Amino acid sequence: MSSRFSPIPGPVEVSPDTLQAMAKPMIGHRAGDYSDLQGRVTPKLQRLLNTRGDVFLGTCSATGVMEAAIRNLSTKRVLSCTCGAFSERWFEICAANGKAADPLRAEWGKAIRPQMVDEALHHGEYDLVTCVHNETSTGVMNPIEEIAKVVRKYPGVLFAVDSVSAMAGVPIDVDGWGLDVCLAGTQKAFALPPGLTVFSVSAPALERAKSVPNRGAYIDFVEFKSFDQKHQTPTTPAISMIYGLDFQLDRFFTEGLEARYARHRAMAEACRAWARERGFGLYPEPGYESVTLTAVANARNVDITSAKKEMSKRGYSIDDGYGKIKGKTFRIAHMGDCTLPELREVLGLLDEVLKLK
Ligand SMILES: Cc1ncc(COP(=O)(O)O)c(C=O)c1O
Repeated sequence: MSSRFSPIPGPVEVSPDTLQAMAKPMIGHRAGDYSDLQGRVTPKLQRLLNTRGDVFLGTCSATGVMEAAIRNLSTKRVLSCTCGAFSERWFEICAANGKAADPLRAEWGKAIRPQMVDEALHHGEYDLVTCVHNETSTGVMNPIEEIAKVVRKYPGVLFAVDSVSAMAGVPIDVDGWGLDVCLAGTQKAFALPPGLTVFSVSAPALERAKSVPNRGAYIDFVEFKSFDQKHQTPTTPAISMIYGLDFQLDRFFTEGLEARYARHRAMAEACRAWARERGFGLYPEPGYESVTLTAVANARNVDITSAKKEMSKRGYSIDDGYGKIKGKTFRIAHMGDCTLPELREVLGLLDEVLKLK
């Protein structure tokens, strides 16, 4: 475990033993050793995500697979649910790729409600809905299971979920909820370096992709499926990252998924309590607070930028808010391999730096 945990919402601390697991000699990605590695990792990811469907590995950051989902899955019109900076990205990607799309916006700090999605889908214009699981800019966790229930009422509408800052920190039931794509980069709750994106693709999504022209050259779901049958990827994968992923997944199962999720919940509760006890608020509306990061409302108007500098002198990075809510909020992340005692230590230092105690 790391001894100095910086609570920024990614890239998060990577444990020394994980880094060590990545430092293996290179192997050819068309050789048996590589297929053994991918063949070992895929069932572990299926277990993590509760799916018997396909789970692929994209050598890119999450945005690459977000773009691929748009290119592979929509020929009609995309309904893009947005509630902060990162969920806007999917809407922007639609425009960048010439795909027709409409935003379905919740105010920053608020969650997407299933009824909103139901009303928007009612007129039958859409073939794909995109939504963020955990909006990293605002610390809101959307009710993905309930939203998925609504999307499933509409035949021919697929549901793609950006779970970048949630996956591996909270339970996800890809098959039970009916998610067509669920993706996450590895630099958040997986506690790995950036550069790899894990993504599930359902059978209906794969069928849709087959009929979509111009799916793109780098991440074509149909090609991924074909190469996956040999436990390979279409192009050279980030092999060192996959060694790290294999190691981390074993760590998750050794800890136990339930225990891992309980640890994340305990850290979230401790962080929210810290914020409340010091007279701060929480930025997300009640009931939708993220489990992997706490967006603190800076109700005391403390100088978080100076605090950031002070923390940096002590060797810790902290966040001072994102985009238009910078300074009005600050985010404390608690995801990955970090522990409650490590979080408490950082919160104690923040008390000192902010002169809260
Ligand atoms: C929720 C969410 N979606 C998408 C992204 C974009 O990920 P990347 O920069 O790895 O492409 C991020 C990055 O922080 C994120 O938090």
